[in-house]
Amino acid sequence: MAELIVALDVNTREEAVSKVKAIGESVDFYKIGLELFTAEGPDVVKAVKDLGKRVFLDLKFHDIPRTVERAVKSGGKLGVDLMTIHSVGGKAMIQAAAQAAAEFGAAAPKILAVTVLTSLDQTDLEDVGIKGRTPVEQVEAMAKFAIENGANGLVCSPKEVGNLSKLLKAGTLFITPGVRPAGAAVGDQKRVATPADAVRDGATHLVVGRPILAAEDPVAAAKAIRAEMNI
Ligand code: C5P
Repeated sequence: MAELIVALDVNTREEAVSKVKAIGESVDFYKIGLELFTAEGPDVVKAVKDLGKRVFLDLKFHDIPRTVERAVKSGGKLGVDLMTIHSVGGKAMIQAAAQAAAEFGAAAPKILAVTVLTSLDQTDLEDVGIKGRTPVEQVEAMAKFAIENGANGLVCSPKEVGNLSKLLKAGTLFITPGVRPAGAAVGDQKRVATPADAVRDGATHLVVGRPILAAEDPVAAAKAIRAEMNI
């Protein structure tokens, strides 16, 4: 059954805690990304966990294998459930992340790989030396590469998940941002899908930010999305 993760896109610990409290029991999984983590550090992870919630630490590691291995261990010690790396960090880096996570046994954080940032188009890929592949082909190649080297799942657009879930082994996690309930404001997202479509296509976790955080009634907004996900 798919899970709902709320992107805690705020920049103070106080606001993070107050949002989690306001959303209450309707959501038990939160994404802490670069903005909040850079502002508040591991304390904010602890604060969210102390409220009984699970944490997806989305810092998209991309560094030499030893550094990523040690960063994953730090995340594991914090007790986070999901962490992200960039698949272009290479085979040894992905394997190092997976091995570091595995040391936590049953409490191991799951390692998710980013394939191609959705902000990049064909010209951007060529600028960084990736020639002869479309963004879609590059996503597929990096997805296979990441999973073969030990990543547990992928962060991908809801438009890609249907195709990727057919290509990759059963049990692969698919985390999709860019989800908008039917009729909601799209904001700056360009390629959106409804919660029902994302789940039907194989998403295992939906990441939703503004449609819940900015809602007048965040509990009702979260419940409506859960209903659309059928959970
Ligand atoms: O507010 P919204 O629902 O658009 O938030 C989506 C979250 O997912 C944000 O934290 C955003 O940074 C993240 N994200 C995304 N698109 C990607 C990768 C991550 O929107 N391709």
